Amino acid sequence: MKVIKVRNYEELSEKAAAIVAELLKKKEDACLGLATGGTPVGMYQNLVKMTERGEISFKKVRSFNLDEYCGLAKSHPQSYHYYMRTNLFDHVDIDLNNTHLPEGDTGDHEEACRNYNEMLKNEKIDLQILGIGSNGHIGFNEPGTPFSQETFVVKLAEKTREDNKRFFNSLDEVPKYAITMGIKNILQADSILLLASGKGKAEAIYRLVHGEVTEDFPASALKNHKNVTVIVDEEAAMLL
Ligand code: PGA
Repeated sequence: MKVIKVRNYEELSEKAAAIVAELLKKKEDACLGLATGGTPVGMYQNLVKMTERGEISFKKVRSFNLDEYCGLAKSHPQSYHYYMRTNLFDHVDIDLNNTHLPEGDTGDHEEACRNYNEMLKNEKIDLQILGIGSNGHIGFNEPGTPFSQETFVVKLAEKTREDNKRFFNSLDEVPKYAITMGIKNILQADSILLLASGKGKAEAIYRLVHGEVTEDFPASALKNHKNVTVIVDEEAAMLL
């Protein structure tokens, strides 16, 4: 696992975008594994700027997102479908037909998981972007998730709902379930880029770098992968 330390969120966002851009320049039809949440917003902003300047293109890119809440319409401002449209897809030349997220709003979550998992099996993700939960989750794979897990319906940990409350009006509004790629799906990517910013992530980053491999800490599964890069800013790295 390669750990890159940068000063702050701005540098983290620039470095992460540069890594994605480098791949797109080498492979115009790359398949990207995309993440949502607060952390990658700056990376997406940089990618939009690079696209506007003509430095990169998403024309032939395919994408698969990690997760989606259950029960939120795609038009809900906190759904990850909406997030991806507003943070990236609406501002670059990607073909929306080539973008994929789990369908959390069909009413049949099990079928949605099967469909998504089938699609993932027929793809090779070149670069998977990840954030990390303060409890060590990746995607929405909460502590205790088996490393062999494929796409599934997860009951969100209360810590995760608390962490994500800031995006909603109240804790009550935060969905209790989500559909997420499993850890097995994540580990099938060719390369993985995990981003962590701020002191709220410092303990998780310490545990990721120095801790043991255990299903109690989902991100530790990344130690079983050959090509993982972690970008951390000074605050997230403060316990290293
Ligand atoms: P955040 O979420 O980027 O909003 O901190 C990260 C995650 O939960 O994976």
